[in-house]
Amino acid sequence: MKAADTKTSDTEAVKINAENAENQAAESDKIKNREQRTRENPCKGPVNNRKVAVIGCGFVGASIAFTLMQRSIFSEMVLIDRDRKKAEGEALDISHGLPYSAPMEIYAGDYDDITDAALIVIAAGANQKQGETRLDLIDKNLAIFSQIIPEIKKRDCQGILLVVTNPVDILTYAAIKMSGFSPQRVIGSGTVLDTARLKYLIGRSLDVDARSVHAVIIGEHGDSELAVWSGANISGVDLTHFCELRGIAHYKVMTQRIYTEVRDSAYEIIQRKGATYYGIAMAVAKIAESISRDEHSILPVSALLSGEYGIEGLCLSIPSVVGSKGVEKVLEIPLSGTEQRELTASAKALSAAVEHANRAAEEIKK
Ligand SMILES: NC(=O)c1ccc[n+]([C@@H]2O[C@H](COP(=O)([O-])OP(=O)(O)OC[C@H]3O[C@@H](n4cnc5c(N)ncnc54)[C@H](O)[C@@H]3O)[C@@H](O)[C@H]2O)c1
Repeated sequence: MKAADTKTSDTEAVKINAENAENQAAESDKIKNREQRTRENPCKGPVNNRKVAVIGCGFVGASIAFTLMQRSIFSEMVLIDRDRKKAEGEALDISHGLPYSAPMEIYAGDYDDITDAALIVIAAGANQKQGETRLDLIDKNLAIFSQIIPEIKKRDCQGILLVVTNPVDILTYAAIKMSGFSPQRVIGSGTVLDTARLKYLIGRSLDVDARSVHAVIIGEHGDSELAVWSGANISGVDLTHFCELRGIAHYKVMTQRIYTEVRDSAYEIIQRKGATYYGIAMAVAKIAESISRDEHSILPVSALLSGEYGIEGLCLSIPSVVGSKGVEKVLEIPLSGTEQRELTASAKALSAAVEHANRAAEEIKK
C-alpha cells in the first residue's frame, strides 16, 4: 500500500472512531435523560399517560408493540423480555416504522424503566401448542408471573396492568393476588378478542360491516365462553329480525355455527400457523386506547367479580366500562336463563384453577 493510501485510511479510521464515540455519547445522554425523566416523572399524575410498557416480546408482545406504534396512542414504549436481545431486536425493527407513523421513543429496557408507565401489558409466557387448552398452561405461566409481578410490585408502579398471557382469567386473578394492587387496575384482555371474532363472523354471515354488529362473548376466555345472543343486534335491529330481513331461515343453525367457530378459532389458527397474534394485538390496542384516552368504552375485559351474576372471587369477562382508572364498572347486562346458567358453568370451570393461582400467590409471600 502506498504511503498516501495508508494516511487516508488512518484519517478515515480516526473519523469513524470519533463518530462512534459521538454516537455512544448521544445514546448515553438519551439514557440519562430517560432515567432523569423517570425519576422526576414530569407528568401531572403519578404516571406518564403517554408511556406504555410491554413485558414479553414473543409473537403476541411484539405484535402488540407493532400495533401500538402504528396507532400513535403513546409517545414512549419500553419493551422487556427475559431474552434481552429479542426485546432489543423488536425495538429496533418496530422503530423503523416511525417515519410513517408518529414520533415515539421505543427501546428495550428493564423493570426500572416501567415505574411511571400508564399501562403495563404482560404478554410473557408459554403459548398453546397444538392439542393444548389454555388451562393446560397454568403452571408454566404462574411460575413466570411469580417472577414478573414481584418486580412490578417492588417499584410500586401506579399504572394499569393489562394481562394477556393465557389462561388470561386465571393469570389476571393471580396478578391481583400477587401484586396486592386494586382489582380495578389489574385487568385481563378477556374476551375482547373473542368478541371481535364474533362480530366479524356475524358481519360476514349477514353481509354487514362488523362495526355495525353489537354482540358480545362473555365468561372464560376459553372453552366455556358463551355468546349473549339474547342481546345481539345490528345497529339496534334485533338479530333475529335482521336475519329475517336477510332471508336467513335457520337462525339457530347460523348462531351455533358462528359460536363454534369463535370458540375454536385459536385451535384452528394454531393448527395452521402455530400461534395467534394479530387479532389479540388489535384487541389490546383497543383496550389501551380506552385506558389512555379515558374513553369509557364498554369492553368485555376480564375483571374480578364481587357478586355480579352471583359470581364472586374470580376473574371473568363481562362488559365493563374501561377508562384511565382501569375497570370503572362491571355491567350487569340482561341475560336469558340459559345464558345465566352457561355463565355460572363457565365460572365453575375456572374455580379449580383459581386455587392454583391462590397457592402461587401464597408462595410468593413466604
Ligand atoms: N389473551 C389472549 O387473547 C391471547 C391471544 C394469543 C396468545 N395469548 C397468550 O400470550 C402469551 C404469549 O404468547 P406468544 O405466542 O407471544 O408466546 P412466545 O413464546 O412467542 O413469547 C413468549 C415470550 O415471553 C418471554 N418470557 C418468558 N418468560 C419471561 C419472563 N419471566 N420475563 C419476561 N419475558 C419472558 C419469552 O422470552 C418470549 O419472548 C401466551 O400465554 C399465549 O397463550 C393470549
